[in-house]
Formats: sequence, structure tokens, C-alpha cells
Amino acid sequence: MRSMFCAMAITLIVASPLGEARVIPDPNQKPAPGNETPQTPLYQANYSPAVNYQLQCLGCHLTNGEGAPRSDVSMMKGFVGHFLKVEGGREFLIRVPGASQSALSDAQLAELLNWMLKDDGIAGGSAPANFKPYTGKEVETYRGRMIKDLTGFRLNLIEQIKELNIDIPADVIP
Ligand code: HEC
Repeated sequence: MRSMFCAMAITLIVASPLGEARVIPDPNQKPAPGNETPQTPLYQANYSPAVNYQLQCLGCHLTNGEGAPRSDVSMMKGFVGHFLKVEGGREFLIRVPGASQSALSDAQLAELLNWMLKDDGIAGGSAPANFKPYTGKEVETYRGRMIKDLTGFRLNLIEQIKELNIDIPADVIP
């Protein structure tokens, strides 16, 4: 009985056609019709900030920056502009991993932050009246500066905001 199994196993191994499973793409394979042009990388695409937000941020921050506090994504809606009122807050919005590590170019990220901070945007009037728009150059300067203790850094900013007598809504994670 045992030797029969052995014989069967050996036959199966020997009989399996080696080249059947194609892991390596076929070099002669052509793209599907209409799909011949390679995709434009996001940093070279000319999408509006609203579209870039949808593609790169909405998955976590949701449509209007409501966030998902239960999943540790704080609410930005009507609040995110307050970060600009405290020391380190302006750079924080560039340095935070979701922004700094996005697939957007420096200029696109600056444009997206400016779009978020508009009074009729996600910031909903929370940005200071004298807000100076971000520039690509500014993003370039701060983007690569990793925040080592992200939670502590952010908490310090929230504490500073509190000291300005600004209410911290329940959906803004301290
Ligand atoms: C994978 C989820 C995720 C994605 C995608 C993401 N973020 Fe975030 N974002 C977070 C989390 C979580 C925080 C809180 C700080 C932290 O832990 O990074 C945050 C914080 C922020 C903050 C600071 C506000 C605050 O309350 O801390 C800004 C501004 C921000 N994100 C912008 C963006 C932008 C712009 C994009 C898209 C280019 C983006 N994020 C993509 C998860 C994400």
C-alpha cells in the first residue's frame, strides 16, 4: 500500500508540467486595447486639490474631514485651522505622515493644504484671518522632517490650542 502511494507521488511529480504556472509576466503580452498609455504618476497629474484629497486623504479623513475618532483619525472639520495659531502647528500640517508621505508633489501638497484651510473648506473658518497660504518651497523645507513622538507632539499642540481658550470638540482626539 505504502509503496503504491510512493509510486503515485513520484508519478505525479514527474508528470507535472513545469512551465504551467506563469509567475513571470509574458514579455510579449500587450496592454488591453485603449490602455496602451502608461498611467501618469499622481505627482505629475493635474488634478484639483479636491480630487487629490479624494485620492490620498479621504480614505481616512472622510469626505468633509469628519475623521473616524474610533479609528484614531481625529476630526479636522471646523478645527484643523486652529493648529496654525500655535507654535509648531503650521509645520505640523506638512509633517504629519498622511500629508508628508503622500504621493503628491510639494506644490500639490501646498495647494491641497490651502484648499483645506479655506473658510468654506474643511477648516470651516478655524484658520486665522491672517493665514498666509503655504508654498511648495515651504512644504519642501518641512516635509522630510520626521516627527519622532507624533502623539506627544500633537498633544502639545492641542494643549497650546486649549490655552487660547478654544474649545476642543469631542471628535478631536486630544
Ligand atoms: C492612513 C490614514 C490617513 C491618511 C491616508 C491621511 N491621514 Fe492625515 N491623519 C491621519 C491620522 C491618524 C492623523 C493624526 C496624527 C497621526 O497619528 O498621524 C492625521 C492627521 C492629519 C493632520 C493634522 C490634524 C490632526 O488633527 O492631527 C492633517 C493636516 C492631515 N492629517 C492631513 C492629511 C492629508 C492632507 C492627507 C492626504 C494627502 C492625509 N492626511 C492622509 C491619518 C491619515
